[in-house]
Amino acid sequence: MTNDLKNIASTIRSRRTVKQFTNKNVDSDLILKAIDLARWAPNHHLTEPWHFYILNDSIIKKCIELIRVIVTEKKGEEIGNFKAENSKLIPGWLVVTSKLSESKLTQQEDYASVCCAIQNFSLYLTEAGLASKWSTGAITRDNRFYDLLSINTKSEVIVGLIWYGYPKQLPTQSRGKLDDILTVID
Ligand SMILES: Cc1cc2nc3c(=O)[nH]c(=O)nc-3n(C[C@H](O)[C@H](O)[C@H](O)COP(=O)(O)O)c2cc1C
Repeated sequence: MTNDLKNIASTIRSRRTVKQFTNKNVDSDLILKAIDLARWAPNHHLTEPWHFYILNDSIIKKCIELIRVIVTEKKGEEIGNFKAENSKLIPGWLVVTSKLSESKLTQQEDYASVCCAIQNFSLYLTEAGLASKWSTGAITRDNRFYDLLSINTKSEVIVGLIWYGYPKQLPTQSRGKLDDILTVID
């Protein structure tokens, strides 16, 4: 295997979902570069269905309070406060949406493309020594979140809330056996 192949294999394999980050500042240019690269994901008919919303401090504070409200409604005050307080420790917040389409097929293809873009974003961060967590928690499906970010529910759907930063530590992960998910058809 060439060194380039080893490098890409290592980056793909070492990307981990991380929930705890250090307070080291993330360079905003790095995030812009990651977003710029993310959109080189495949997208059928070149629909470029993605939109990236970088959240800054004042809106993050409002999101945290919304998390407190939504989680409290669903799981009670103690868990609501716990989730909100934990969210305060997350340095980077990015929301990624996909365009909505009247065509079910286009909608599905666009969603797939946005997922690829998020993976590109995450891999670039991994290579830069950062980590991320792709969340589809309750807030991402709540109209109050759309309203807060001025995202139109009729034209866009939130594919993920991506939290990012420098990882406190990288968790270990595993995958099942390759044979279990592989069928060669002659
Ligand atoms: C579409 C999608 C939604 C996810 N939503 C959540 C989430 O809401 N909460 C969470 O803790 N992890 C979430 N994850 C992260 C997965 O739990 C994680 O990818 C899985 O545990 C495997 O770990 P790895 O990413 O380190 O390989 C999500 C991942 C994807 C692809």
